[in-house]
Amino acid sequence: MPKLDARYLESRRIGRENGLEVEDELKAWAGGLEAAHRALLERSRDPGAMLGWIHLPEATEEARVILRYRQGTAWAREVVVLGIGGSALGARALYQALAPADPPARLHFVDHTDPGPIARLMAGLDPERTLVLAVSKSGGTAETLAALLVFHRWLEDALGEGWREHLAAVTDPERGPLRAYARAQGLAAFSVPPDVGGRFSVFSPVGLVPLAFAGVAIEDLLMGARRANARAREEAAQSALFLYLLERHRGKRVHVLMPYGKRLEGVADWFVQLHAESLGKARDRRGSRVHLGPTPLAALGPTDQHSLLQLLREGPNDKLVAMVRAEDPGEDLRLPELPGLPAAGYLFGKTLAQLQDAEARGTALALAEAGRPVLTLTIPAVDAPSLGDLLQFLMWQTAFLGELYGINAFDQPGVELAKTYTYALMGREGYEEVRRRLEGEA
Ligand code: PA5
Repeated sequence: MPKLDARYLESRRIGRENGLEVEDELKAWAGGLEAAHRALLERSRDPGAMLGWIHLPEATEEARVILRYRQGTAWAREVVVLGIGGSALGARALYQALAPADPPARLHFVDHTDPGPIARLMAGLDPERTLVLAVSKSGGTAETLAALLVFHRWLEDALGEGWREHLAAVTDPERGPLRAYARAQGLAAFSVPPDVGGRFSVFSPVGLVPLAFAGVAIEDLLMGARRANARAREEAAQSALFLYLLERHRGKRVHVLMPYGKRLEGVADWFVQLHAESLGKARDRRGSRVHLGPTPLAALGPTDQHSLLQLLREGPNDKLVAMVRAEDPGEDLRLPELPGLPAAGYLFGKTLAQLQDAEARGTALALAEAGRPVLTLTIPAVDAPSLGDLLQFLMWQTAFLGELYGINAFDQPGVELAKTYTYALMGREGYEEVRRRLEGEA
């Protein structure tokens, strides 16, 4: 579980109108957090509650099956992942953070419908060495099915009947068009448990299959995620409480996740989807209109110190910044002397990791001095156990936030509605109705 540094919250009152301090808030809410944790664990046994992600890290046999599949398809040096939203963001974040410099297979994510990049990707790949992985929980998402049509034709044109070996699916075990197609064609297929939603699926085959091809230690990821499960009641619940109180009582409606380190950039993008789809809700669990949800924002340190930081420090005081930093930078580079450049003298002999760390600490101080709340999440290293832990921690944090807000954090009716309108406009049922509505809006 990432270490939670709330120093820049403790120095200020974050509480309700009576001005309680952080420690007092934690005491006051201890019972509530305990009950929320118990409720989540209990509900995780109900398939309809969509809390199956809690138990994914225990599915070690699944990881072994995936690794065996990878051994049997060792010819695959390129893996094209067709998937969008929760079916792409987690795998991409972990690929960016953890893939070795020369991975056994490179991953390419097609999570869009822009023809140019797709055509260029195909032109640069050798079909003989490419595995195409169609990833869709529902099995019916338009962007993914469209990409499947294109890549299927590309494989068949190049490989004839051999295309089947080069196409695999990750989808619901029983339902949906992708499962039916994989079954009919005899394709290799992996299952996303029915009680796991897209944005919570990174430790199911959705993330594990592509990451295994890229040489990421998937069993270590799961081990890290189990650590987060064991301590969920601690840092994850506490951080959720801080976010909740700051949003509800101090107007911090924008939650910025700002990892320090280029390798962690994708984690912030994954976090944005996790919070936006889980917490942006029109109704609470009793059905009352609420229109809740902090706005998540992805930032990258130190790059965004030269972009967003001015706004974060001096713009509207409606933001909370959660930084992520790794204690052990891993590979590091020493900064050599350059005699003709005395202005850089303060850098000579230091390392890039030292500079990055100073940037994180300096920025936290600059924000705190302006009264902007900062939380720091420290992970031991940018490695598979730490990233497994961090992502599962953030999923727990989201689930606790859902409990605190009293909403269902595990559905996404807004996303589903836009999908339905898209299908209709492309000629599926409801075309006339949606066209009339569009004209009404115009
Ligand atoms: O988190 C979610 O449920 C969504 O973002 C989905 O992941 C996204 O819409 C893609 O859906 P599917 O995996 O069914 O293709």
